[in-house]
Amino acid sequence: MGEEMPLSRIAAAVGTPVYVYSQAALVERAAAYVQAAQQTAARCLVCFAVKANGNPALLRLLGEQGLGADLTSGGELFLAQFAGIPPHRLLFSGVGKTSAEIQQALQAGIRALHVESWAEMERIAGIAQTLQMAAPVAVRLNPDVAADTHPAIHTGGRQHKFGVNAQAARQMLLAAADHPWLSPVGLAAHIGSQIRELAPFRQATAALLRLAADLEAVGCRLQYLDVGGGLGLDSISQAAPRPAEWVAAVGEPVAQAGYELVLEPGRSLVGDAGILLTRVEYVKEEGGKWFVVVDAGMNDFLRPALYGGEHPIWPVALRSGRQRESRADHTWRVEVVGPVCESGDTLARDYELPPVAAGDLLAVMQAGAYGYAMSSNYNGRLRPPEVLISGAAYQIIRQRQTMTHLLG
Ligand SMILES: Cc1ncc(COP(=O)(O)O)c(C=O)c1O
Repeated sequence: MGEEMPLSRIAAAVGTPVYVYSQAALVERAAAYVQAAQQTAARCLVCFAVKANGNPALLRLLGEQGLGADLTSGGELFLAQFAGIPPHRLLFSGVGKTSAEIQQALQAGIRALHVESWAEMERIAGIAQTLQMAAPVAVRLNPDVAADTHPAIHTGGRQHKFGVNAQAARQMLLAAADHPWLSPVGLAAHIGSQIRELAPFRQATAALLRLAADLEAVGCRLQYLDVGGGLGLDSISQAAPRPAEWVAAVGEPVAQAGYELVLEPGRSLVGDAGILLTRVEYVKEEGGKWFVVVDAGMNDFLRPALYGGEHPIWPVALRSGRQRESRADHTWRVEVVGPVCESGDTLARDYELPPVAAGDLLAVMQAGAYGYAMSSNYNGRLRPPEVLISGAAYQIIRQRQTMTHLLG
Protein backbone atom coordinates (compact mmCIF):
# COMPACT_ATOMS: atom_id res chain seq x y z
CA MET A 1 0.00 0.00 0.00
CA GLY A 2 3.03 2.30 -0.31
CA GLU A 3 3.61 2.61 3.44
CA GLU A 4 6.48 1.45 5.63
CA MET A 5 4.71 0.23 8.72
CA PRO A 6 4.98 -3.55 9.29
CA LEU A 7 1.49 -4.96 9.68
CA SER A 8 2.75 -7.31 12.38
CA ARG A 9 3.50 -4.25 14.51
CA ILE A 10 -0.03 -2.99 14.14
CA ALA A 11 -1.41 -6.40 15.03
CA ALA A 12 0.80 -6.51 18.12
CA ALA A 13 -0.21 -3.02 19.22
CA VAL A 14 -3.90 -2.96 18.35
CA GLY A 15 -4.85 -6.63 18.15
CA THR A 16 -6.81 -8.41 15.45
CA PRO A 17 -9.10 -8.29 13.59
CA VAL A 18 -8.34 -4.72 12.52
CA TYR A 19 -8.97 -2.65 9.41
CA VAL A 20 -5.81 -0.95 8.16
CA TYR A 21 -5.86 1.84 5.57
CA SER A 22 -3.01 3.50 3.72
CA GLN A 23 -3.13 7.29 3.63
CA ALA A 24 -0.85 7.40 0.57
CA ALA A 25 -3.13 5.02 -1.31
CA LEU A 26 -6.26 6.99 -0.40
CA VAL A 27 -4.76 10.32 -1.42
CA GLU A 28 -3.36 8.87 -4.62
CA ARG A 29 -6.70 7.32 -5.64
CA ALA A 30 -8.67 10.46 -4.81
CA ALA A 31 -6.22 12.63 -6.76
CA ALA A 32 -6.38 10.24 -9.72
CA TYR A 33 -10.19 10.49 -9.79
CA VAL A 34 -10.20 14.29 -9.53
CA GLN A 35 -7.53 14.57 -12.22
CA ALA A 36 -9.34 12.20 -14.58
CA ALA A 37 -12.61 14.10 -14.10
CA GLN A 38 -10.93 17.47 -14.63
CA GLN A 39 -9.23 16.26 -17.79
CA THR A 40 -12.55 15.02 -19.11
CA ALA A 41 -14.97 17.81 -18.25
CA ALA A 42 -14.59 21.54 -17.75
CA ARG A 43 -16.92 21.32 -14.76
CA CYS A 44 -16.96 18.21 -12.60
CA LEU A 45 -17.59 16.99 -9.09
CA VAL A 46 -16.38 13.69 -7.69
CA CYS A 47 -18.56 12.68 -4.75
CA PHE A 48 -17.28 9.79 -2.65
CA ALA A 49 -20.08 7.35 -1.79
CA VAL A 50 -19.92 7.54 2.00
CA LYS A 51 -21.72 4.22 2.42
CA ALA A 52 -18.50 2.53 1.30
CA ASN A 53 -16.58 3.86 4.28
CA GLY A 54 -17.88 6.46 6.71
CA ASN A 55 -14.85 6.81 8.93
CA PRO A 56 -14.60 10.55 9.73
CA ALA A 57 -10.79 10.59 9.37
CA LEU A 58 -11.03 9.10 5.89
CA LEU A 59 -13.82 11.46 4.92
CA ARG A 60 -11.74 14.42 6.07
CA LEU A 61 -8.81 13.22 3.99
CA LEU A 62 -10.96 12.75 0.89
CA GLY A 63 -12.67 16.12 1.43
CA GLU A 64 -9.24 17.75 1.58
CA GLN A 65 -8.50 16.30 -1.87
CA GLY A 66 -11.46 18.26 -3.23
CA LEU A 67 -14.00 15.44 -3.18
CA GLY A 68 -17.65 15.84 -2.31
CA ALA A 69 -19.86 13.15 -0.82
CA ASP A 70 -22.80 11.08 -1.99
CA LEU A 71 -25.00 10.50 1.07
CA THR A 72 -27.69 8.01 1.83
CA SER A 73 -28.91 8.97 5.30
CA GLY A 74 -29.01 11.77 7.83
CA GLY A 75 -26.20 9.97 9.63
CA GLU A 76 -23.97 10.18 6.57
CA LEU A 77 -24.85 13.86 6.17
CA PHE A 78 -23.77 14.41 9.76
CA LEU A 79 -20.50 12.57 9.11
CA ALA A 80 -19.73 14.55 5.95
CA GLN A 81 -20.42 17.83 7.74
CA PHE A 82 -18.30 16.71 10.69
CA ALA A 83 -15.48 15.94 8.24
CA GLY A 84 -15.70 19.49 6.91
CA ILE A 85 -16.97 18.71 3.40
CA PRO A 86 -18.75 21.85 2.19
CA PRO A 87 -22.50 21.59 1.53
CA HIS A 88 -22.23 22.53 -2.14
CA ARG A 89 -20.32 19.25 -2.63
CA LEU A 90 -23.00 17.07 -0.96
CA LEU A 91 -25.67 15.01 -2.73
CA PHE A 92 -28.34 12.94 -1.03
CA SER A 93 -29.47 9.70 -2.76
CA GLY A 94 -31.75 6.90 -1.57
CA VAL A 95 -35.31 5.66 -1.98
CA GLY A 96 -36.50 6.17 1.58
CA LYS A 97 -35.55 9.62 2.85
CA THR A 98 -37.55 10.51 5.93
CA SER A 99 -39.07 13.95 6.50
CA ALA A 100 -36.48 14.60 9.19
CA GLU A 101 -33.66 13.74 6.78
CA ILE A 102 -35.09 15.97 4.05
CA GLN A 103 -35.35 18.85 6.50
CA GLN A 104 -31.79 18.21 7.74
CA ALA A 105 -30.50 18.24 4.14
CA LEU A 106 -32.34 21.42 3.15
CA GLN A 107 -31.22 23.24 6.27
CA ALA A 108 -27.63 22.11 5.63
CA GLY A 109 -27.85 23.71 2.16
CA ILE A 110 -26.64 20.66 0.23
CA ARG A 111 -26.19 20.76 -3.56
CA ALA A 112 -29.19 18.53 -4.33
CA LEU A 113 -31.54 15.82 -3.19
CA HIS A 114 -31.70 12.94 -5.66
CA VAL A 115 -35.39 12.12 -5.87
CA GLU A 116 -36.53 8.56 -6.49
CA SER A 117 -40.35 8.84 -6.64
CA TRP A 118 -43.24 11.27 -7.13
CA ALA A 119 -44.23 10.77 -3.51
CA GLU A 120 -40.78 11.78 -2.35
CA MET A 121 -40.81 14.86 -4.55
CA GLU A 122 -44.16 15.95 -3.12
CA ARG A 123 -42.80 15.49 0.36
CA ILE A 124 -39.70 17.53 -0.43
CA ALA A 125 -41.86 20.30 -1.91
CA GLY A 126 -44.00 20.41 1.24
CA ILE A 127 -40.99 20.61 3.55
CA ALA A 128 -39.34 23.24 1.35
CA GLN A 129 -42.48 25.36 1.55
CA THR A 130 -42.64 25.01 5.33
CA LEU A 131 -39.00 26.05 5.60
CA GLN A 132 -39.52 28.77 2.98
CA MET A 133 -36.47 27.65 1.06
CA ALA A 134 -36.39 26.29 -2.50
CA ALA A 135 -35.22 22.66 -2.71
CA PRO A 136 -32.63 21.79 -5.39
CA VAL A 137 -33.63 18.42 -6.84
CA ALA A 138 -32.20 15.94 -9.30
CA VAL A 139 -34.14 12.88 -10.40
CA ARG A 140 -32.64 9.42 -10.32
CA LEU A 141 -33.31 7.66 -13.58
CA ASN A 142 -33.60 3.90 -13.65
CA PRO A 143 -32.03 3.30 -17.08
CA ASP A 144 -33.00 -0.39 -17.16
CA VAL A 145 -29.62 -1.77 -18.13
CA ALA A 146 -28.27 -5.23 -17.41
CA ALA A 147 -24.93 -5.52 -15.63
CA ASP A 148 -22.80 -8.54 -14.99
CA THR A 149 -22.55 -8.37 -11.22
CA HIS A 150 -24.07 -10.06 -8.17
CA PRO A 151 -27.89 -9.65 -8.23
CA ALA A 152 -27.85 -8.00 -4.80
CA ILE A 153 -25.72 -5.13 -6.08
CA HIS A 154 -27.34 -4.65 -9.47
CA THR A 155 -29.55 -1.59 -9.07
CA GLY A 156 -30.22 -0.29 -12.58
CA GLY A 157 -32.79 -2.76 -13.88
CA ARG A 158 -36.53 -2.11 -14.27
CA GLN A 159 -37.21 -4.73 -11.60
CA HIS A 160 -35.32 -2.77 -8.93
CA LYS A 161 -36.62 -0.30 -6.38
CA PHE A 162 -34.22 2.43 -7.45
CA GLY A 163 -35.09 5.53 -9.44
CA VAL A 164 -37.89 6.06 -11.92
CA ASN A 165 -38.35 5.33 -15.63
CA ALA A 166 -37.49 7.90 -18.30
CA GLN A 167 -41.03 9.08 -18.81
CA ALA A 168 -41.61 9.65 -15.11
CA ALA A 169 -38.22 11.34 -14.72
CA ARG A 170 -39.09 13.75 -17.52
CA GLN A 171 -42.47 14.59 -16.01
CA MET A 172 -40.99 15.01 -12.54
CA LEU A 173 -38.28 17.41 -13.70
CA LEU A 174 -40.78 19.46 -15.72
CA ALA A 175 -43.10 19.57 -12.71
CA ALA A 176 -40.19 20.67 -10.53
CA ALA A 177 -39.37 23.44 -13.00
CA ASP A 178 -42.91 24.77 -12.62
CA HIS A 179 -43.01 24.44 -8.84
CA PRO A 180 -42.38 27.49 -6.66
CA TRP A 181 -40.42 25.51 -4.04
CA LEU A 182 -38.47 23.12 -6.25
CA SER A 183 -35.53 23.80 -8.50
CA PRO A 184 -34.51 21.04 -10.99
CA VAL A 185 -30.74 20.87 -11.20
CA GLY A 186 -29.74 17.44 -12.43
CA LEU A 187 -30.33 13.91 -13.54
CA ALA A 188 -28.62 10.90 -11.96
CA ALA A 189 -28.22 7.16 -12.40
CA HIS A 190 -26.40 4.46 -10.48
CA ILE A 191 -26.64 1.03 -12.03
CA GLY A 192 -24.93 -1.14 -9.41
CA SER A 193 -21.61 -2.06 -7.89
CA GLN A 194 -18.53 -4.13 -8.67
CA ILE A 195 -19.20 -3.82 -12.43
CA ARG A 196 -16.14 -4.70 -14.49
CA GLU A 197 -17.19 -3.79 -18.02
CA LEU A 198 -17.80 -0.39 -19.56
CA ALA A 199 -20.76 -1.21 -21.81
CA PRO A 200 -23.53 -0.92 -19.17
CA PHE A 201 -22.09 2.39 -17.96
CA ARG A 202 -22.07 3.69 -21.53
CA GLN A 203 -25.69 2.63 -21.96
CA ALA A 204 -26.78 4.34 -18.74
CA THR A 205 -24.92 7.53 -19.72
CA ALA A 206 -26.58 7.50 -23.14
CA ALA A 207 -29.98 7.21 -21.42
CA LEU A 208 -29.18 10.21 -19.22
CA LEU A 209 -28.07 12.23 -22.24
CA ARG A 210 -31.17 11.36 -24.28
CA LEU A 211 -33.42 12.51 -21.48
CA ALA A 212 -31.42 15.66 -20.79
CA ALA A 213 -31.58 16.60 -24.50
CA ASP A 214 -35.29 15.95 -24.53
CA LEU A 215 -35.78 18.23 -21.52
CA GLU A 216 -33.56 20.90 -22.98
CA ALA A 217 -35.69 20.87 -26.13
CA VAL A 218 -38.64 21.99 -24.03
CA GLY A 219 -36.65 24.65 -22.19
CA CYS A 220 -35.55 22.72 -19.09
CA ARG A 221 -31.77 22.91 -19.05
CA LEU A 222 -30.13 20.96 -16.20
CA GLN A 223 -26.83 21.79 -14.51
CA TYR A 224 -25.35 18.33 -14.18
CA LEU A 225 -25.54 14.70 -15.16
CA ASP A 226 -24.49 12.26 -12.46
CA VAL A 227 -23.38 8.87 -13.76
CA GLY A 228 -23.18 7.34 -10.28
CA GLY A 229 -20.51 4.93 -9.10
CA GLY A 230 -20.23 1.20 -9.46
CA LEU A 231 -16.86 0.60 -11.10
CA GLY A 232 -15.45 -2.63 -9.67
CA LEU A 233 -12.00 -3.62 -8.59
CA ASP A 234 -10.05 -6.44 -10.20
CA SER A 235 -11.37 -9.70 -8.84
CA ILE A 236 -9.41 -12.90 -8.58
CA SER A 237 -10.92 -14.06 -11.87
CA GLN A 238 -11.61 -10.83 -13.81
CA ALA A 239 -9.82 -7.50 -14.29
CA ALA A 240 -11.72 -4.22 -14.09
CA PRO A 241 -11.16 -1.08 -16.17
CA ARG A 242 -8.99 1.58 -14.48
CA PRO A 243 -10.83 4.59 -13.03
CA ALA A 244 -9.42 6.90 -15.75
CA GLU A 245 -10.87 4.63 -18.47
CA TRP A 246 -14.23 4.62 -16.74
CA VAL A 247 -14.24 8.40 -16.26
CA ALA A 248 -13.40 8.90 -19.93
CA ALA A 249 -16.08 6.45 -21.09
CA VAL A 250 -18.89 8.03 -19.07
CA GLY A 251 -17.57 11.57 -18.81
CA GLU A 252 -16.66 12.48 -22.36
CA PRO A 253 -20.18 12.29 -23.78
CA VAL A 254 -21.48 14.28 -20.79
CA ALA A 255 -18.82 16.95 -21.24
CA GLN A 256 -19.44 17.11 -25.00
CA ALA A 257 -23.09 17.84 -24.33
CA GLY A 258 -21.98 20.72 -22.12
CA TYR A 259 -23.12 19.39 -18.75
CA GLU A 260 -21.24 19.32 -15.50
CA LEU A 261 -20.06 15.78 -14.82
CA VAL A 262 -20.79 14.23 -11.43
CA LEU A 263 -19.34 10.88 -10.33
CA GLU A 264 -20.07 8.87 -7.19
CA PRO A 265 -17.32 6.26 -6.83
CA GLY A 266 -17.12 4.19 -3.67
CA ARG A 267 -15.39 0.85 -3.93
CA SER A 268 -13.07 1.78 -6.78
CA LEU A 269 -11.82 4.71 -4.71
CA VAL A 270 -11.18 3.21 -1.29
CA GLY A 271 -11.51 -0.56 -1.69
CA ASP A 272 -7.88 -1.15 -2.58
CA ALA A 273 -6.60 1.28 0.06
CA GLY A 274 -7.55 -0.93 2.98
CA ILE A 275 -7.09 -4.45 4.27
CA LEU A 276 -8.55 -6.49 7.05
CA LEU A 277 -5.80 -7.96 9.19
CA THR A 278 -6.77 -11.19 10.88
CA ARG A 279 -4.99 -13.91 12.83
CA VAL A 280 -5.25 -17.66 12.38
CA GLU A 281 -6.78 -19.24 15.47
CA TYR A 282 -6.91 -22.87 14.42
CA VAL A 283 -6.26 -25.14 11.47
CA LYS A 284 -8.46 -28.21 11.25
CA GLU A 285 -9.06 -31.01 8.77
CA GLU A 286 -12.61 -32.24 8.48
CA GLY A 287 -14.61 -34.04 5.81
CA GLY A 288 -11.64 -34.11 3.47
CA LYS A 289 -11.08 -30.35 3.67
CA TRP A 290 -8.70 -28.10 5.45
CA PHE A 291 -10.26 -25.21 7.36
CA VAL A 292 -8.22 -22.21 8.42
CA VAL A 293 -10.21 -20.62 11.23
CA VAL A 294 -9.39 -16.91 11.61
CA ASP A 295 -10.48 -14.33 14.17
CA ALA A 296 -12.40 -12.17 11.65
CA GLY A 297 -15.98 -13.21 11.05
CA MET A 298 -18.83 -12.16 8.82
CA ASN A 299 -19.79 -9.62 11.48
CA ASP A 300 -16.45 -7.90 10.79
CA PHE A 301 -16.49 -8.33 7.03
CA LEU A 302 -19.74 -9.24 5.34
CA ARG A 303 -19.00 -9.01 1.61
CA PRO A 304 -17.95 -12.64 1.05
CA ALA A 305 -21.01 -14.00 2.87
CA LEU A 306 -23.46 -11.46 1.47
CA TYR A 307 -22.38 -11.16 -2.17
CA GLY A 308 -19.90 -13.96 -2.61
CA GLY A 309 -17.32 -11.16 -2.72
CA GLU A 310 -13.90 -12.50 -3.70
CA HIS A 311 -10.97 -11.07 -1.78
CA PRO A 312 -7.37 -12.15 -2.19
CA ILE A 313 -5.86 -13.27 1.12
CA TRP A 314 -2.14 -12.82 1.71
CA PRO A 315 -0.12 -14.28 4.52
CA VAL A 316 1.63 -11.44 6.34
CA ALA A 317 3.97 -12.98 8.84
CA LEU A 318 4.37 -16.73 8.93
CA ARG A 319 6.34 -18.27 11.72
CA SER A 320 9.39 -19.86 10.11
CA GLY A 321 10.76 -23.37 10.37
CA ARG A 322 7.51 -25.13 11.06
CA GLN A 323 7.05 -28.78 10.20
CA ARG A 324 3.99 -29.61 8.18
CA GLU A 325 4.37 -33.30 7.47
CA SER A 326 0.71 -33.63 6.50
CA ARG A 327 1.14 -31.10 3.69
CA ALA A 328 4.15 -31.76 1.55
CA ASP A 329 3.29 -29.01 -0.96
CA HIS A 330 4.20 -25.38 -0.56
CA THR A 331 0.62 -24.35 -1.04
CA TRP A 332 -2.59 -26.02 -0.12
CA ARG A 333 -6.26 -25.45 -0.80
CA VAL A 334 -8.31 -24.38 2.16
CA GLU A 335 -11.52 -22.79 3.31
CA VAL A 336 -10.77 -19.62 5.25
CA VAL A 337 -13.57 -19.36 7.79
CA GLY A 338 -14.52 -17.11 10.68
CA PRO A 339 -15.79 -17.90 14.17
CA VAL A 340 -19.46 -16.94 13.61
CA CYS A 341 -22.05 -19.70 13.89
CA GLU A 342 -23.11 -19.68 10.24
CA SER A 343 -21.76 -21.85 7.44
CA GLY A 344 -21.81 -18.71 5.30
CA ASP A 345 -19.12 -17.23 7.55
CA THR A 346 -16.45 -18.06 4.99
CA LEU A 347 -13.91 -15.54 3.76
CA ALA A 348 -12.67 -17.74 0.92
CA ARG A 349 -13.53 -21.15 -0.46
CA ASP A 350 -11.16 -23.63 -2.08
CA TYR A 351 -8.44 -21.04 -1.75
CA GLU A 352 -4.75 -21.61 -2.31
CA LEU A 353 -2.59 -20.53 0.61
CA PRO A 354 0.93 -21.37 1.68
CA PRO A 355 0.87 -23.54 4.78
CA VAL A 356 -0.26 -21.45 7.73
CA ALA A 357 -0.67 -22.26 11.39
CA ALA A 358 -2.30 -20.84 14.48
CA GLY A 359 -0.86 -17.42 15.26
CA ASP A 360 -0.09 -16.46 11.67
CA LEU A 361 -1.39 -13.18 10.32
CA LEU A 362 -3.40 -12.93 7.11
CA ALA A 363 -4.32 -9.80 5.17
CA VAL A 364 -7.72 -9.85 3.49
CA MET A 365 -7.21 -7.50 0.55
CA GLN A 366 -9.55 -4.90 -0.98
CA ALA A 367 -11.32 -4.41 2.32
CA GLY A 368 -11.33 -0.60 2.38
CA ALA A 369 -14.89 -0.39 1.05
CA TYR A 370 -18.03 -1.96 2.55
CA GLY A 371 -15.84 -3.50 5.24
CA TYR A 372 -16.10 -1.72 8.56
CA ALA A 373 -19.18 0.06 7.16
CA MET A 374 -21.13 -3.21 7.10
CA SER A 375 -19.78 -4.65 10.35
CA SER A 376 -22.10 -5.55 13.22
CA ASN A 377 -22.22 -7.04 16.70
CA TYR A 378 -23.70 -10.31 15.47
CA ASN A 379 -22.85 -13.25 17.74
CA GLY A 380 -22.00 -10.78 20.52
CA ARG A 381 -18.79 -9.86 18.76
CA LEU A 382 -17.17 -6.47 19.12
CA ARG A 383 -16.76 -4.29 16.04
CA PRO A 384 -13.09 -4.03 15.07
CA PRO A 385 -10.86 -0.95 15.22
CA GLU A 386 -9.64 1.03 12.23
CA VAL A 387 -6.07 2.20 11.75
CA LEU A 388 -4.64 4.69 9.26
CA ILE A 389 -0.99 4.28 8.27
CA SER A 390 1.02 7.19 7.00
CA GLY A 391 4.64 6.41 6.16
CA ALA A 392 6.26 4.94 9.25
CA ALA A 393 3.49 6.09 11.62
CA TYR A 394 -0.03 4.99 12.30
CA GLN A 395 -3.04 6.31 14.17
CA ILE A 396 -6.08 4.53 15.49
CA ILE A 397 -9.00 6.24 13.77
CA ARG A 398 -11.62 4.10 15.47
CA GLN A 399 -11.19 2.17 18.70
CA ARG A 400 -12.19 -1.45 19.06
CA GLN A 401 -15.54 -1.66 20.81
CA THR A 402 -15.57 -2.81 24.40
CA MET A 403 -18.01 -5.16 26.14
CA THR A 404 -20.11 -2.21 27.34
CA HIS A 405 -21.12 -1.57 23.70
CA LEU A 406 -23.02 -4.84 23.85
CA LEU A 407 -25.24 -3.49 26.62
CA GLY A 408 -26.94 -0.96 24.32
C1 LIG B 1 -26.40 6.03 -5.31
C2 LIG B 1 -25.08 5.36 -5.20
N1 LIG B 1 -23.99 5.99 -5.66
C3 LIG B 1 -22.76 5.44 -5.57
C4 LIG B 1 -22.57 4.20 -4.99
C5 LIG B 1 -21.18 3.65 -4.91
O1 LIG B 1 -21.03 2.46 -5.58
P1 LIG B 1 -19.60 1.75 -5.69
O2 LIG B 1 -19.07 1.63 -4.30
O3 LIG B 1 -19.88 0.46 -6.31
O4 LIG B 1 -18.75 2.65 -6.54
C6 LIG B 1 -23.68 3.50 -4.50
C7 LIG B 1 -23.51 2.15 -3.91
O5 LIG B 1 -24.40 1.46 -3.55
C8 LIG B 1 -24.96 4.10 -4.60
O6 LIG B 1 -26.05 3.47 -4.12
